[in-house]
Amino acid sequence: MTRGLPGNAIEELRSYYDVYMWKGDAPPHYDFLVDEAMKSDALTTLLSDRIDCNLLKSASPKLRIVAQYAVGCDNVDLECATRLGIYVTNTPGVLTEAVADLTWALIMAVARRIVEADRYVRGGDWGRSGIGWHPMLLLGTDVYGKTIGIIGMGRIGQAVARRARGFDMRILYNSRRRLPSDVERELDAEYVSLEELLRDSDVVTLHVPLTSETRHIIDEGKLRLMKRTAMLVNTSRGGVVSTSALVKALKKGWISGAGLDVFDEEPLPPGHPLTMLDNVVLAPHVGSGTKKTRERMAYLVAENLIAFHLGRVPPNLVNTEVVDIRSPGF
Ligand code: GLV
Ligand code: GLV
Repeated sequence: MTRGLPGNAIEELRSYYDVYMWKGDAPPHYDFLVDEAMKSDALTTLLSDRIDCNLLKSASPKLRIVAQYAVGCDNVDLECATRLGIYVTNTPGVLTEAVADLTWALIMAVARRIVEADRYVRGGDWGRSGIGWHPMLLLGTDVYGKTIGIIGMGRIGQAVARRARGFDMRILYNSRRRLPSDVERELDAEYVSLEELLRDSDVVTLHVPLTSETRHIIDEGKLRLMKRTAMLVNTSRGGVVSTSALVKALKKGWISGAGLDVFDEEPLPPGHPLTMLDNVVLAPHVGSGTKKTRERMAYLVAENLIAFHLGRVPPNLVNTEVVDIRSPGF
């Protein structure tokens, strides 16, 4: 295990596996990780662990399963794992609502300038100003009744859409796969091209996995299509957005604000240009970060590893083609 996980799931694992755990808060060094992987039948990993083909090849054939503690698996070389017959599992479903909640927290925080407002009150500027209530103080933008554009309409995108209905929003979406028409009707969501979505939305929010197709889908050209009054929200993966283009767009006023939980470099270095901008709300990749959700994710990791140990296909297998290469179990 490249890190301890919350809850009692690890205790259940101990009936099936001898557990060795990295105890640091920072990720284990890559070379150390390779050495440890070579001694392991199974690994539990975080999205900050680089599980590349070199590591997988070095650890194969002993290593048979990588159980990722996250829904996104872009840190794992899935093709390479499949070729080597290594099972890769993730933790979908249990984190859907938590990530959708955080997405909304960012939308509201950007629209109503909550972080700036908190700084103003806490820092004493409000008290010193002598202004009590003022007609022009910290004015934001409306969310209710506006148009939201959801890029990536999987489990999380749909959970964001369900919340948007409560705000009486027009819901546009673009996705690799179009939803069945009954689901579209239920969500009241309209399928449009990416360009149309960017042109028409007041809130643009990203819920796609990071793949070669989605890397930098939001670049300079796409940001220029957005309304000057619109905001961009990203709780998926940093690599989906070109950071330099986003900084430019925010500085030049091509868009009005951004709410970001993910970055192409994590942790975001101190003094990063994004931290200099008032119209941005930043969070340290905590989309799934509620106590209950993180415990449920740990249970899924344990369930996947135990199923594999019992010779069953794990419930959350990501590289499903691997079953044709090798059957589950040790
Ligand atoms: C978190 O980013 C996850 O993919 O679960
Ligand atoms: C504001 O507090 C209002 O009463 O409108």
